Amino acid sequence: MPRSSKAPRAAWNSQFGFLMSAAGSAVGLGNIWKFPYIAGMNGGGFFVLFYLVCIFLVALPVMIAEIFIGQTSKSNAVHAFCQIEGRKSWWRLGGILGVLATVLIMSFYSAVGGWIFFFLHQSISNFAAFSSLDGVEKLFSQITDRFELGLAYQAVFILTSFSIVAGGVSSGIERLNKMLIPALVMIILLLLGYASQLPGFAKAWQFMFDFDLTHFSTTGMLEAVGHSFFTVSAGVGIMITYGSYLQSDAKIAPIAGVIVVVDTLIALASGMIIFSIVFSQNAAISSGPTLIFKTLPLLFSQIQMGQAVAILFFMLVTFTALTSSVSLVEVPVAYLVDKGISRNTSLGILLVVVSLLGTLCSLSFGSVSLFVWFGHTFFDWCDLLSSRVLLPVSGLLFVCFFGYKMDSHRPFEQIYRSIWVRRLMKFATCIVAPVAIIAIGMMGII
Ligand code: TRP
Repeated sequence: MPRSSKAPRAAWNSQFGFLMSAAGSAVGLGNIWKFPYIAGMNGGGFFVLFYLVCIFLVALPVMIAEIFIGQTSKSNAVHAFCQIEGRKSWWRLGGILGVLATVLIMSFYSAVGGWIFFFLHQSISNFAAFSSLDGVEKLFSQITDRFELGLAYQAVFILTSFSIVAGGVSSGIERLNKMLIPALVMIILLLLGYASQLPGFAKAWQFMFDFDLTHFSTTGMLEAVGHSFFTVSAGVGIMITYGSYLQSDAKIAPIAGVIVVVDTLIALASGMIIFSIVFSQNAAISSGPTLIFKTLPLLFSQIQMGQAVAILFFMLVTFTALTSSVSLVEVPVAYLVDKGISRNTSLGILLVVVSLLGTLCSLSFGSVSLFVWFGHTFFDWCDLLSSRVLLPVSGLLFVCFFGYKMDSHRPFEQIYRSIWVRRLMKFATCIVAPVAIIAIGMMGII
């Protein structure tokens, strides 16, 4: 549908700004708390190689499809399909599910974002509390059980994200990412330099990169596919939305290539940093919230320059969370703005919805089990519904629309110059990616 608002559509100031913002969305908690763990547990080097193939054959095609849909339609994740087809298109269902997913993801992401802010604060002002397992566990239960504390930090996270998006596409989102992504890379390099001096570095290398075929399984393969899809933030329309602010003549393939390379290098470097610390102290490997809010804080108290490392680490995690959350907020905002609602009103509506759902997510923890349905809390439901249902269905619709319905735009001819690359990517887009998404969707892997 044509946009009803008269104001000129927002745009990135530069292609570099788009690159930083898209990389900011892609680099998230998954790079830090999931990838290193699944890589190590599934046999290291061979898994990493297989993952690279998945990035190339599944993640990249979906990402390029989304960016192209956005760039061509200059419209939000829902209306893009109608704009391209020139009528009310049922393909917009993918966009609607994507918008829903961003709202649900933002709701539980903001709870975790609040915990991250809290731990950053503690690493600066109360580092002594990290010195025993008991102390660390108390901190974590403080933030999850004491609702007013959890909600206060969550509110700070939500308000920070919303006020950045309120600044607009180029002076809010782009400016933030142009600052935070280079800062994040600097922190990674500093921590990597530090980790390389630790006794556990060689073992971390072995864990992440040595070829150990005995630990490589079919489940591991599916995990690689699922994570490759998740790590580029595919399937929620972020790349459609961000792509719609991109100049029409920008070359998508090289930009998307750089984004996945940056994302992968950051995931690999995080793994080396985390496991060098873990193995230096002979600690047990872990992933997810346990890794970030328990294992690592305790280890920071045991290593040299621990407080500096802790502060840098939590800054890193804060930056990855913020650059991802602004992308989550922008998807529904772009949809409402294109419907003719002002940016501020759209943000206001969304703020109410996210605050309500986000509160229910936070209340899922602690002793109150008011919100448990079929054994899962509200927090779990937001996570499960978005990652197991909405993401795969939308991702599948996006990639199929691009691969099968955009013929008149000759997308492959426009994007890929070399005929061989074009053939390969056509095969990846039309066959490999859809089959892979159906497989991981049915297995509930993402
Ligand atoms: N890409 C993020 C990561 O690697 C996770 C993610 C998936 C995400 N979908 C998203 C982040 C949508 C923001 C928006 O951790």
